[in-house]
Amino acid sequence: MCGIVACVGQASAKPILMEGLKRLEYRGYDSAGIAVLNGQGMQLARAVGRVRVLEQSIDGDDRFEGTLGIAHTRWATHGGVTEINAHPHNDGGNHGIVLVHNGIIENHTALKTWLGQQGHEFASETDTEALVHLISELYEGDLAAAVRAALRQVEGAYAIAVMCKAEPGVLVAARRGSPLMIGVGPEGYLVASDAQALVTHARQVAAIDNDVVARITGDGFVTADLDNAPVTAKLQELDITLEQIELGAHEYYMAKEIEEQPVSVARCLRGRMDAKNGRVVLGGVAEHARTLVRAKRVVFLGQGTALHAGMIGARLIEDLAKIPCTAEFASEFRYRNPIIEDGTVVIPVSQSGETADTLAAVQEAQQRGALALGLVNVVGSTIARTTDAGVYLRVGPEIGVASTKAFLGQVTAAVLLSCYLGRSRVMSEEQAAELLRALETIPTLLEGVCADGDHARAVAQRFISRDNWLFLGRGYNYPVALEGALKLKEISYIHAEGMPAAEMKHGPIALIDEGMPVVVVATRNSQYRKVLSNIEEVRSRGGHVIGVITEGDDEAASLCEAVFTVPDVPAPLQPLLTIVPLQLLAYHAALLRGHDVDKPRNLAKSVTVE
Ligand code: G6P
Repeated sequence: MCGIVACVGQASAKPILMEGLKRLEYRGYDSAGIAVLNGQGMQLARAVGRVRVLEQSIDGDDRFEGTLGIAHTRWATHGGVTEINAHPHNDGGNHGIVLVHNGIIENHTALKTWLGQQGHEFASETDTEALVHLISELYEGDLAAAVRAALRQVEGAYAIAVMCKAEPGVLVAARRGSPLMIGVGPEGYLVASDAQALVTHARQVAAIDNDVVARITGDGFVTADLDNAPVTAKLQELDITLEQIELGAHEYYMAKEIEEQPVSVARCLRGRMDAKNGRVVLGGVAEHARTLVRAKRVVFLGQGTALHAGMIGARLIEDLAKIPCTAEFASEFRYRNPIIEDGTVVIPVSQSGETADTLAAVQEAQQRGALALGLVNVVGSTIARTTDAGVYLRVGPEIGVASTKAFLGQVTAAVLLSCYLGRSRVMSEEQAAELLRALETIPTLLEGVCADGDHARAVAQRFISRDNWLFLGRGYNYPVALEGALKLKEISYIHAEGMPAAEMKHGPIALIDEGMPVVVVATRNSQYRKVLSNIEEVRSRGGHVIGVITEGDDEAASLCEAVFTVPDVPAPLQPLLTIVPLQLLAYHAALLRGHDVDKPRNLAKSVTVE
């Protein structure tokens, strides 16, 4: 969704901000803007479309020289995609206050009405403009004080960066809900909604907490709550490197991230298991071991891909630890007055650690007494800091909007956690050892599966003209079918539906006509025979089956128009392999249809509004 980058210090702001905006592009956006403050006043430029359009519009324009600036990528929520609605927004020239904002100001209508009565005129349709005018209305010579006063009246979620003509060296930043951090580097200070935007210029970062306002100059920063009581922001070393977030020789981040999966899974496993002795070591969770042994119910929470990983997690926990477990859309869980009994553990799953629905659901569950364990990728993210404990995915930054390596990290972490819980309750050392020995082989097996791109391209080519696809699976592979369909929709814009293979008969079978592509995950496991029957049902209606099957399975192969093969592994680990061909299929289908797979239309990498 929207992205913020701002800086103040010794270096020229424009190149830092433009680079930051480019690094934020992956989040999804529809317009961009920049403002720089210097001796000649406030310079502001906005453009609809890509960051490069904005860059070209101010290329060589000396008026944008200066060492203090703010910039933004916008993903429209209130008001259409227009230059006027793009950020930064200003206070109509009143005090020369300029602001960028992520999130939603929920009481913007009431604020605009009141501000209108005070004589303010609004240029855009955005909620954000209410906030910049409110700050302006309350400004009495101290920008940080005006921001604090304004935010006391604001409802909703926000991350903001603000500057004011009368205070040329001062950058003010604040947040509630939407992520924001301060970066410290040799040439000054930065503010960004995402560590990726700071990586070139900052060595250390400090997260800004909810309802905290930071006043930042070239010499340092101070943080205080909305009543101006001092708050300490803890600086930490930045944990991502430039190499991790650069494309290198790859054409797209999604391709890079699919290829990285063997290494990502190996990193997620490293130091966390002792296969020989059937032992899982999860430092972050250990202090809650006594509570977990007594857990009566587990609920995974997530959205999108993360929910699909949670659905696999729920099966794992029931299978291996014998605790009743479900997975739910965080957005639904939160608003249905959930019953949290004693002994309930919630497990939010999130790549970004910032998804607003997931965060809100966890907070709701915690308030009702649940223990929360996070499966989160981004270290220090809001969900990671909100949960009581957790298991970091350690798959490295994921930039492609369509999640791939994070999904594998989420499933791997869920296997580890299930095995950990299982060992403390019902799993024997031998059972755990057997599963962990198989888990240990996954990174090597993934190398072969991830290298199947040429074959995936050929298969995609055969079916690329078809606009409707079905994805079927059972048991552990049912969430894989959902995830495969989601990948195809997200980046190729082909209509795809995933479902349990048996459910097809209860309605969707009516859709099958001659040549319809039906992707079926049919690896060898306890439901294998049933899935073969479902394949027959598809074939007899003219559907063309693309099978994901176990290596050497000639019987299944003979029923399919096209096959992807994966090595044989125990059923609980199969999703770690069976999803990969579906990622590759979606990737190549999108390329064949001429789409930018890293910037799919309408999508945001991290959805920070409900
Ligand atoms: C967005 C992304 C999805 C992602 C979902 C959850 O919708 O486009 O790819 O799966 O959010 O994101 P999270 O960061 O919580 O895993």
